[in-house]
Amino acid sequence: MTAPPGSLLAAHGLRKTYGPTTALDGAEFSIHPGEVVAVMGPSGSGKSTLLHCLAGIVTPDSGSITYDGRELTTMSDAERSALRRSEFGFVFQFGQLVPELTCVENVALPLRLNGTARKEAERAALAWMERLEVDDLARKRPGEVSGGQGQRVAVARALVTNPRLLFADEPTGALDSLNGERVMELLTDAARSANAAVVLVTHEARVAAYSDREIVVRDGKSRDMERLV
Ligand SMILES: Nc1ncnc2c1ncn2[C@@H]1O[C@H](COP(=O)(O)OP(=O)(O)OP(=O)(O)O)[C@@H](O)[C@H]1O
Ligand SMILES: [Mg+2]
Repeated sequence: MTAPPGSLLAAHGLRKTYGPTTALDGAEFSIHPGEVVAVMGPSGSGKSTLLHCLAGIVTPDSGSITYDGRELTTMSDAERSALRRSEFGFVFQFGQLVPELTCVENVALPLRLNGTARKEAERAALAWMERLEVDDLARKRPGEVSGGQGQRVAVARALVTNPRLLFADEPTGALDSLNGERVMELLTDAARSANAAVVLVTHEARVAAYSDREIVVRDGKSRDMERLV
C-alpha cells in the first residue's frame, strides 16, 4: 500500500503486541507537511504506542510507516536515530529537561549534540525561547521554573533543530487549563510559523481544538474524526 499523495508521514496496518496485550491492531495514520493532527482516545487505547511507532522509537510487529517516501520499519537503528535527530522534535508530558543544565543550555542541547558551537547554539536557543516567551528564564535551571514555563522551554528545545515533524505526547497533561492553553497556543503558532507538522496526543478536546484534524484511537484502531466545528 502506498502512502496518501503528498503526505509527510503515513502508516498502514500497524500492529503491535506486548505479550497478551494488543496495543495496536491495524492502525492507520497520515499527516501532511505543516499539518497539526490531534490523536485522541481513551487511556490504554494505543495513542502513545502509535506515536512511538511513528517516531521510530518502537518497531511495530507488522505494517508500514513511510516518512518522506522512505520506509521506516526496515531502516537500520542508526538510520532511524539519525532521522530522529535531524527531522523530528519531541515534547513529552514532563521530566524531559536536564536538571543540571540551565534552560538555555537545555534548549541548545540538540544543536550541541549535532556539533554546533556553543555560542551559535545558544543564540539560536535564545531566539526560540523568545518566541515561546521564556527567554527571561535562560539562566535558571528547570527546578526553578513553573510547569508551564518548563513545557515552553521543552517546546523551544524540540523546535531548535527546525524539525519537519514534532511529536507531542500529552504536552499539557501536567498543567492547569490556563497554562495548558497558553502552551498549546505557543506550540502550534511556533510550529506553524516554522512549517513543522505536529502529531499531538491528547485526552482533552480543548487541546485538540488547536489541531487541523483529529484522529481517534480505540482498541488499537484509528480513524479520522469529522470535525464538528
Ligand atoms: N512497554 C509496554 N509493555 C507492556 N505493555 C504496554 C507497553 N506499552 C504499552 N502497553 C500496553 O499497550 C496498551 C496501549 O498503551 P498506550 O500507552 O499506547 O496507551 P495510551 O492510549 O497512550 O494511554 P494513556 O492515555 O493512558 O497514555 C495498554 O494496554 C498498555 O498497557
Ligand atoms: Mg499515552
